[in-house]
This record gives sequence, structure tokens and C-alpha cells, in this order.
Amino acid sequence: MNPPHAFGIAGLIGWPVAQSRSPVIHNHWLAQHGIAGRYVLFPVPPEKLEAAIRGIATLGLRGCNVTTPHKQAVFPLLDRVDDLARRIGAVNTVVVEKDGTLTGFNNDGNGFIQSLRDADPKWSPGRGPVLVLGAGGASRAVVASLAAQGATEIRLANRTLDKAREIAAVVGHVVKVVPWEERADAVDGVALLANATSLGSAGKSALEMPLDRLPKSALVGDLIYIPPETPLLAAARERGNITVNGLGLLLNQARPAFEAWFGVMPEITPALKQAIAATF
Ligand code: ATR
Repeated sequence: MNPPHAFGIAGLIGWPVAQSRSPVIHNHWLAQHGIAGRYVLFPVPPEKLEAAIRGIATLGLRGCNVTTPHKQAVFPLLDRVDDLARRIGAVNTVVVEKDGTLTGFNNDGNGFIQSLRDADPKWSPGRGPVLVLGAGGASRAVVASLAAQGATEIRLANRTLDKAREIAAVVGHVVKVVPWEERADAVDGVALLANATSLGSAGKSALEMPLDRLPKSALVGDLIYIPPETPLLAAARERGNITVNGLGLLLNQARPAFEAWFGVMPEITPALKQAIAATF
């Protein structure tokens, strides 16, 4: 589609988009690799999504990220969507193929899992039972990706039980739905506890989650990164568990997208982490 060495453009389509850290990440990598290009923000309201997506190949973009509220609405506008994104029910990355057709992916869950592996190389999705709290869009990405990467038991607790049941119906028998009130018992023997609720994020009340029964060897992950350490992560760290916040998801989900758009698999360097930290 693009002439070789053409200025490469990718960006984020969402509504709103101003808060996004993705430009910092991708523009850092473009500069680091000496690639002529730019990652830009495209505020696109819902009624203009179709025109925007139809335009990305015509305008010569390499692809784009898609965020709220378009992650589901973009499905019928793409030529193909990979299996994992279908199971997640959301697309976060669109790639313009050489022939100008559009492919949709979702790297959010895999990005989170990679950040957990980085924090504890002994951990893997199949290492032991997992307890995931929450059953919104972020949870669905994490649960579907954990299952795809070999998790054998995913306990899923949510205040609204039907939303957890919906995820179980799509992902399969590996997901065991747990009533919200039973979450404290459900940490028994887990290798990973992951918070995918919005509780503990800036301006929200803290997640109430007794950790008495949580194994010391368990990894504790939180998809939240503002604040960088939620009360859950602070409590887990103080009792000796390895903890991971949601910044790793943001950085790791961006890597395969950058590779698909610009042909280089970039690294998460201390300089990049510093550039992101400077935006808070
Ligand atoms: P995201 O797309 O980031 O996952 P979301 O779809 O709004 O955001 O999901 C938010 C999650 O936080 C849900 O699991 C929600 O529980 P419900 O499905 O019952 O709404 C959970 N959550 C938000 N506030 C909560 C609260 N006060 N107590 C328990 N869970 C809460």
C-alpha cells in the first residue's frame, strides 16, 4: 500500500483521546529506531467512526489503535478480526494490510500477561488457579487471553454475576464463576490475583479484598495505573507478594502493534518508562 520508506502514520481513534499515553510510547519508539513517522490522536465521535475507519487506508495510515467507545463498533468495518479479539468482543488494534484491507486484533490481555511474566519469570498462566475480579471489558480481555495461553482454572468474581456468566459462556469451562461475596475464600491456592474492576483507581473507593488466604507466592496484578500503586497492590506488597500495575499492559500491548505498523519489534527500555512516568 505504502511506497517503501514513506512517512509512516498511525494513531488512536477514540472519543475522547486527549488523555492517552500511546503517542508518548509510539513516538518514542519511532525516534529510537530512526523511523520517519508519527503517532497522532484522532478524536472521532461515534457517528463518524465509519467514515474515519474507511479513510485510514486511503490516507495511507499504517493502522490505528481503537479505544472507548469504538472497540466493539469497529467490528463490522473491518475485513477480518482475529479469533482472540472475537472472543474478547473488542478490537484495540487495526492493521492496514499491503492490499489495503483492514485486520483487527486485541493485544490488551496478552500485554497484561507479558507484564506479569516480566515481573515474575517463574509465573505462567498455567502455573496455578487464577482469581480475576471484575467482568467488564478489561476483564474479558484478560480472561480470554489467560485461557488462550493455557490457564487451567480461572475463578471470576463480579458484583453483577450475569456479566461473569457471559464471559464464562464465551471463554469456556476453564472459567468458574464466583459470587462477589465469596471472593475472599476464592484466593485460596491461587498463583495470580488480578483486579480488573475500577475499584482503587483515582477518585474511586478502594477494593475491599481480604488477603489472609492469598499464598505468599502468588502474583498480584492490577489493571489500574493511576494511581501507580492501588491500595490492593500496597497491601499485597507489604505482605511480600510480587505486584504489577496496569502500566505494563499499556506498554506491552503497544509492542506487537508497533511491529505490525512499522516492521520493528520495539523494547520497553528504562528511558521509555521514564518518558511515561514524566506524563503523570
Ligand atoms: P472496563 O472496560 O475498564 O473493564 P467497566 O466495563 O465499566 O470498565 O467494568 C468495571 C468493573 O468494575 C465491573 O466489573 C464492575 O462491576 P459490575 O459489572 O457489577 O458493574 C466493577 N465495579 C465498579 N464499581 C464497583 C463496585 N462499587 N463494587 C464492585 N465492583 C465494581
